[in-house]
Amino acid sequence: MISLDISGLSQIDSSHGLSLGEIESESSRISGFLEKIHARDQGFYQNEVLENEELVLSIEKFAKKVKGKYDYVVVLGIGGSSLGMIALKDAFGNLFLGTHPQIYILDNIDPVFISECEEVLNLQKTLFLVITKSGGTPETLSQYFYFLKKVEEKKLVLKEHFVFITDPKKGLLREEVEKKGIPSFPVPENVGGRFSVLTAVGLVPAALIDVNIQNLLNGAKAMREKFLSQNISENLPFQIATIQYLLSKKGKNITVMMPYAQKLFRFADWYRQLLAESIGKEKNENGEKVHTGLTPVNALGVTDQHSQAQLYMEGPNDKFILFLEVEKFEKDIEIPLPKEFHDSVHFLENTSFAKLMRVEKKATADALTEYGKPNITVHIPEISEEHLGELFLLFEGAIAFLGEYFGINAFDQPGVELSKNLTKKYLLE
Ligand code: PA5
Repeated sequence: MISLDISGLSQIDSSHGLSLGEIESESSRISGFLEKIHARDQGFYQNEVLENEELVLSIEKFAKKVKGKYDYVVVLGIGGSSLGMIALKDAFGNLFLGTHPQIYILDNIDPVFISECEEVLNLQKTLFLVITKSGGTPETLSQYFYFLKKVEEKKLVLKEHFVFITDPKKGLLREEVEKKGIPSFPVPENVGGRFSVLTAVGLVPAALIDVNIQNLLNGAKAMREKFLSQNISENLPFQIATIQYLLSKKGKNITVMMPYAQKLFRFADWYRQLLAESIGKEKNENGEKVHTGLTPVNALGVTDQHSQAQLYMEGPNDKFILFLEVEKFEKDIEIPLPKEFHDSVHFLENTSFAKLMRVEKKATADALTEYGKPNITVHIPEISEEHLGELFLLFEGAIAFLGEYFGINAFDQPGVELSKNLTKKYLLE
């Protein structure tokens, strides 16, 4: 099970760190916050998402039916409709070879990006997953229209090359399902894009590359127990939210997520959206202007020790660093030390890449603590479906609590609307 090490907070002086007492004194808020969260009726932790056996069976059945049929699965989707799958693809696919079928995620409308993807596709062997909760996102619709034309030009059967993942009742794609008989999976109405990775949005593409989706959900269910616990020492999501909130009062308005695992680098991208879009709000629930927000930054261990770490150590004390550490790598490699180097680099004797990674993480965290920079570590036993499921729910739950701390609605995104409307207006000019 995932655990937290918060010693990088308590060993720092009180103006920048946090004592265990400071964190624990917030525990009386858990029950009130949970009540408010339940009242929001968000589906991300509810049975309709985590215990939807019918959906899991239908996804597994679909994955089995199409196994071996496609060489390419192309996801057309953006934001919450793609970031979770990008994280899953890196966690479970080979970082260089990819997966079979290859999964390409087109989360941008850059024409070069689209055409370079198209260059490698064989349309006869391609399945397009069009993922849009609203069914009206212009970026995703334009990509759909583009590839629809290509598939039609080749006279291929549409329902064999497209699957839609969208709102169960409304939206343009839902209408397309009715008109063209294209297979579809629903996104529950009460699950917003950035909270949807454990719905069909993430589960369908994941199942197509042989991710065990039941295990993902099992991990998430285990973390849900913690999220709903009134006991602060069990409630890891509440602990993280409390730390972020209390540290924001001490001027730490930047959260750096730094996984020490290449396979979790894109997980930090998923989290970046979750934190930014959920907590960055102009108004609180009473309609007062509050301009809340924590700025997410991604870093990768050990790579960014050689780029951003200098700033984190000696720059302004305005950051909270959240390490993700994997206890057991799927593979380890001994570092062979040639005899002639024994004296000059003797510290590399009898070591392995996993050990070096672990030691460098510890050295970085300890150095930050010495500099008085608050940091915590999320310990992940290994990269497995269960633990990824736990991780997704850990941070979704933490964001739900953080929204309550700030007195804002973490589940809407009114700010995104203005640029969407201006885009439509400018296109018509
Ligand atoms: O979190 C969100 O709500 C957004 O990032 C959406 O996922 C994104 O705008 C895409 O929306 P849709 O799935 O409706 O195409």
